[in-house]
Amino acid sequence: MCGIVGFIGNEEAAPILLEGLSRLEYRGYDSAGIAVYGPEDGLKVVKAKGRLQVLSDIVSGGKTIHGTLGLGHTRWATHGEPSDINSHPHVSQDGRIAVVHNGIIENYVEIKEFLQSRGVHFASQTDTEVVAQLLEYYYSKGEHTPEALLDAVVKVLHRIDGAYALGILSADCPDRLIAVRKDSPLILGYGKNFRFLASDVTAVIKYTREVSYLDDGDIAVLTADGVQVYDSLLQPVAKEHSHVDWEISAAEKGGYEHFMAKEIMEQPKAFRDTVFPRIQAGRVVLDDLRIAPDDLEDMDKLYIIACGSSYHVGMAAKYTLEKILRKPVEVTLASEFRYCDPIVTEKTLALVISQSGETIDTLAAMREAKRLGARVLSIVNVVGSTIARESDDVLYTWAGPEIAVATTKAYSTQLAVVYLIGLYFADLMGTIEPAEYKAVVAELLLIPTKIEAILNNRKDIQYFASIYFNHPSVFFIGRNIDYAVGLEGSLKLKEISYIHSEGYAAGELKHGTISLIEPGTLVVALASYGKLFEKTMSNMVEVKSRGADVLGVTVESRRKDIDKTADHSIAIPDTHPMLLPSLEVVPMQLFAYYVALQRGCDIDKPRNLAKSVTVE
Ligand code: G6P
Repeated sequence: MCGIVGFIGNEEAAPILLEGLSRLEYRGYDSAGIAVYGPEDGLKVVKAKGRLQVLSDIVSGGKTIHGTLGLGHTRWATHGEPSDINSHPHVSQDGRIAVVHNGIIENYVEIKEFLQSRGVHFASQTDTEVVAQLLEYYYSKGEHTPEALLDAVVKVLHRIDGAYALGILSADCPDRLIAVRKDSPLILGYGKNFRFLASDVTAVIKYTREVSYLDDGDIAVLTADGVQVYDSLLQPVAKEHSHVDWEISAAEKGGYEHFMAKEIMEQPKAFRDTVFPRIQAGRVVLDDLRIAPDDLEDMDKLYIIACGSSYHVGMAAKYTLEKILRKPVEVTLASEFRYCDPIVTEKTLALVISQSGETIDTLAAMREAKRLGARVLSIVNVVGSTIARESDDVLYTWAGPEIAVATTKAYSTQLAVVYLIGLYFADLMGTIEPAEYKAVVAELLLIPTKIEAILNNRKDIQYFASIYFNHPSVFFIGRNIDYAVGLEGSLKLKEISYIHSEGYAAGELKHGTISLIEPGTLVVALASYGKLFEKTMSNMVEVKSRGADVLGVTVESRRKDIDKTADHSIAIPDTHPMLLPSLEVVPMQLFAYYVALQRGCDIDKPRNLAKSVTVE
């Protein structure tokens, strides 16, 4: 979703803003813009629809626009089509206040009408422009002092509803930027004689590792060598500084054609980093968890809440956790949970899964679960993100920055943490046999090597992609955990290759979907879960006899069986049944990647999609 970067310092701002925006491209956007203030040229705004390169070319990489403070923005259109005019920054009618925004101003129509009735002319169709115009409306009434600007900001905040991260620059106060946050992420970066505001740390990591995270309601005033943060009553707020310890190379392609390819290949390492330090002497050690065995005994339900691929991890988790914990596990989409009047008590444990830790629906659902009394345990990748900070307990997935919109290594490490939680809780509650516990832990430690084996055979999957990349419609079928992985395989394929695809419970096919099977339809049949292998085989035969092409996926020990029906097959190493999704998902990711590659798609930045969905 929209990306914000703001810089104030002693150097030319424009190249730094463009560099920062390039680091935010992964979030998903359709246009970009910058506003820079310089003593000679005043406030200059340049914006353009399309890729950041278009903007960069217009300003010659930032060389033609001068000044040491400015704001940059990548826009993911919500209100108003993607266009030059609708791009941010938006400026007030007098051209002296520039605003960038991530989020949605819900009551913008009413404010727009109010301002229009007072003669304000609007240039764009966006909700954001009301912020710039309203600021001018309040600010122009008084002295043009920094205090009056802050005062105008507070008045605007009282007037607007919705979610927002805002960056504000006024030509009348060119020694400062103002940053405001409510329900949309915003961080501050600190350097020697410069300060940043940004949507996330990737935008600033090249320049500084010292950051702080704004909380809802914070208003920050940044100067080149200082930051003052206030609450909504303009009372000063102290902000902790955090040190970002990952290397910038972690957010670069490192020789790969796409971030997605790099991140797929990083999975063995990400899995090791997430799991190995938490296994000591054959036991799962989760020292960062503060849940007592009694709490678990009393737990009435485990409610898994997530969106997108994180929800698919939740689907796999339901099968696994219910089986070994013998407690009801419900998994629900965050966007549904927040409005469905869920049955949650003080004895409910909410397991919230999110790579970014900022997905607005997941965040809102988490807050709702907390309000209803649940304890919240989250699985999050981005350190310091809002979900991580607001959870009672957080277990981080140490996947490192994930840049490609289509998640891969975050999915794998989320799954890894689910296993750790399952083993840890089952051990505490005594719901797992010691021998079984030992066997799963031992297998868990082998998963990275087995993923490596799959990755080493990726040419086979590339070959299948070259055969099937032109299929107009692909179904992924499976049962139990195979079904859960099929959902993820289907999502991966559709999001980056734009091929219509559905993930389906194999047993449900004959209740409707089978009518869509015709000669040439591709069915990816996942049949790694031993107990239900024969059942899924029957479904494969059913679709095969209606003319489908079948790509079977199973474990090595069953390959010869699946080959009797499938046109082609992929075999993953055998492992403990509980851990199968960790291996099975990898060929699904590779298949989607190679199909999209073959079709010439923009793999890391698929159309209309955003990495971090911070608007509802
Ligand atoms: C977006 C991303 C998905 C991700 C989903 C949930 O749709 O493109 O890859 O699974 O958001 O994001 P989260 O950060 O909460 O895991």
